[in-house]
Amino acid sequence: MKIKSLDAREVLDSRGMWTVGVRMVLADGAYAVDSVPQGKSTGFHEALSLPAAQAVRNINKVIAPKLRGKNFASQTALDDFLIRLDGAPNKKKLGANAILAASMAFLRASAKVKKVPLWKHVNDVYLHEGKSRSGDPVKPGAPRLFMNVVNGGLHAGNNLHFQEYLIIPKTKSVKASVEIGTTLYHALGAMLARTKGKVATNIGDEGGYAPDFKDDLEPFRILQKIAKQLRLGKAIDFGLDAAATDARLSKEDLMHFYKKFTTAVRPLYLEDPFPEEQFEDFAVLTEKYGKETWIAGDDLTTTNVRRMERADAEESVNAVIIKPNQIGSVSEALDAVRAARQYGWKVVASHRSGETNDSFIADFAWGVRADGIKLGAPARGERVAKYNRLIEIEHEAR
Ligand code: PGA
Ligand code: ZN
Repeated sequence: MKIKSLDAREVLDSRGMWTVGVRMVLADGAYAVDSVPQGKSTGFHEALSLPAAQAVRNINKVIAPKLRGKNFASQTALDDFLIRLDGAPNKKKLGANAILAASMAFLRASAKVKKVPLWKHVNDVYLHEGKSRSGDPVKPGAPRLFMNVVNGGLHAGNNLHFQEYLIIPKTKSVKASVEIGTTLYHALGAMLARTKGKVATNIGDEGGYAPDFKDDLEPFRILQKIAKQLRLGKAIDFGLDAAATDARLSKEDLMHFYKKFTTAVRPLYLEDPFPEEQFEDFAVLTEKYGKETWIAGDDLTTTNVRRMERADAEESVNAVIIKPNQIGSVSEALDAVRAARQYGWKVVASHRSGETNDSFIADFAWGVRADGIKLGAPARGERVAKYNRLIEIEHEAR
């Protein structure tokens, strides 16, 4: 794959903040356009994303001239080259957002050269490249949908300590899952308007409703009631991203809440239950609830194999969030998936709260056969772009 050109510009994300958009053209004329998402409740150990203007400058002035006319035999070869060009472990020189943009565009353009859908190429790279081969060949396939229908924490202006209240349809059919998800989402909106007033249907950063609640458990009580009324109680699981680094609650308060939460809700999924350095508190929870519940690291693990290695050694989690922009290249994100599989963890691919309409993450999740994917609510263009891409892939893959 010979690179003809790469150029970057600033584009808007869903919060109206500048992020990085790129276009890469390969020598045979195949081209790709991609853009990178940005988090708000970012983990301390994430690779460093530079301000968009700076990252764009680094792509146009440093990365593009080095890539022009160069041949790369694989995704790994391109990513290794970019990682070496930066030289810093957290990619602070060129920016994780600059490197990831080039990495994503190369992957997408390569799929076009091979004339295969992006998810198929992701699967090929996952199986045939990389340092730590999983030894467990996976076929591409549908992830379960983790739909964030109530927003709190840093993603909303309400009184909820926790960030994401997730409904997780039990079927693996994307279309059927979306149907269940939208039915509940709309019924929730109607119920909130009725009981809390119309202002309660305003939404947060990921498209979930974001009114004040009586307490941090009330959203689940309401969702349980609605699911029962609609006879969807058996069709869904519940989950929570506590994003506890930013939850402003003590360890004791958190423990107390999880006891009530697991008893009342019997959740499938609990992400970042404690702040990002508390590996041992995660381990206590995994020991206690890990049989029924996926206890997932996000800020704890930051798609970083070294953090994941520690989480495995301390038995902190049995599941992990994978966000390519936490680590800053496609190859390293795939390495993180391989490591998770080696540890026997569930894999949940994820968008960020600040998104563009780029649907890359949908193909990524399908290609590695992630167990789940977090895409926010089934509303707002930047979230819907991914749900619609999954629906499209479901057809392509038939
Ligand atoms: P972020 O939040 O994209 O704002 O970091 C998402 C998450 O915590 O999962
Ligand atoms: Zn999270």
